Amino acid sequence: MKPEIVTVLDLGSTKVTCLAATADTQEGIQVLAVESTPCRAIQRGSVTDLDEAARAIDSVVRRVAQALPPDSIGNLVVGVGGSHIEGLNGQGMKPIVPRGRHITYQDVLEVINHSRAIVLPPDREQIQALPREFRVDGERGVRNAIGMSGAKLEVETYVVTGQTTAIQNIERAISMGGRKVDQLVLQPLASGIGVLTPEEMELGVVVVDIGGGLTNIAIFSKGSLAFSASLPIGSRYVTSDLSNLLKTTPEEAERLKTTYGCSLAKVVAERESVDVQQIGQPVPRPLQRRVLCEIIESRMREIATMVRQQVEKSGLQAMLPAGVVLTGGGALLPATEKLFEETLKHQKVRTVEPIPLSGLPTSAGLATAVGLARFALECYDELSPASGVQGWRDKVRSLFSLVTGK
Ligand SMILES: Nc1ncnc2c1ncn2[C@@H]1O[C@H](COP(=O)(O)OP(=O)(O)OP(=O)(O)O)[C@@H](O)[C@H]1O
Ligand SMILES: [Mg+2]
Repeated sequence: MKPEIVTVLDLGSTKVTCLAATADTQEGIQVLAVESTPCRAIQRGSVTDLDEAARAIDSVVRRVAQALPPDSIGNLVVGVGGSHIEGLNGQGMKPIVPRGRHITYQDVLEVINHSRAIVLPPDREQIQALPREFRVDGERGVRNAIGMSGAKLEVETYVVTGQTTAIQNIERAISMGGRKVDQLVLQPLASGIGVLTPEEMELGVVVVDIGGGLTNIAIFSKGSLAFSASLPIGSRYVTSDLSNLLKTTPEEAERLKTTYGCSLAKVVAERESVDVQQIGQPVPRPLQRRVLCEIIESRMREIATMVRQQVEKSGLQAMLPAGVVLTGGGALLPATEKLFEETLKHQKVRTVEPIPLSGLPTSAGLATAVGLARFALECYDELSPASGVQGWRDKVRSLFSLVTGK
């Protein structure tokens, strides 16, 4: 069933965002309210200060609630990322007896359950499972097996796991404000859904969300998620490099980065100069802008190289005709596209923002929040209860309704 209003939370390393949206026949979703607050209490997907995280979450959710009719906010759809998150491919199989009978909803649940029967270390748990493809009697590429005749049903599922304590801390920070989790959604998946078209997901595409503390990577192919990674590095490292090397406050480094920064030093003219206020100095000192950009380039090149390694690790580099899509606040540095093009040879690269929204300094940092809302509203073919476990852990959704529009 389609929910009426969904409320999502993106717990970023630099900010916490709450967004409420509803389904819209024209645009897919209509954003009803969005609120962000700077927050340093969730670093790279893990809560580092429970009280502060709870306060930030409570504050953004309250502000969103004020913009909506009373009691519009239900349980929250929450994005999760970080290096404790892992994705693995699960395989499920179920014989259909008597052979050739019609496949039922129950068969689909059972085969997905089978694919989720993966033994995990005691400190980890499953947080999401996405059916990628069904096979009926070996025939690949089936998206909806219900009603088909067959003797054997198979499924390939993308199973997302995370560290139990990290997940419990997120749930705890949310519950301290009296809210509950509706479901946890992989952040790289959400960023992808926030900026990609269904056609790109069909063709094959990489989405790279360069945030403050994380660089989230998701590869989509044949209309579903094929690979994901959450690298513990982001644009805040660029800021700290600048503040360390130029001996400035973090605020001055951030200003220099966002005002004069660029990911490729060679595109900056040699004669350009910027004023840098160093700590303990009475007046700003001039610095060649190119030197500033060399510092930035070195860190951004490291990020791009790590992304290339992940794309190679996925083994999907030859299946990405829709190229590389950059988003996230960190992708707003000029020439980032060019740097990624140089690093990820043979891939076309472009930077995108989700649907334009007013009231925030930039919307590239909103890709995850918009994607969470689209996931909750447009991936409504919920297969539940698939796991037999209570609560949000029960829910299994595919991207099929999103990519097919049905
Ligand atoms: N105009 C800009 N130019 C360059 N960098 C920018 C710009 N705007 C924002 N940033 C950088 O983007 C980063 C924040 O991006 P974003 O909002 O996507 O991160 P986040 O979602 O809070 O963190 P994460 O996803 O890593 O947990 C900051 O490091 C900030 O300096
Ligand atoms: Mg983010």
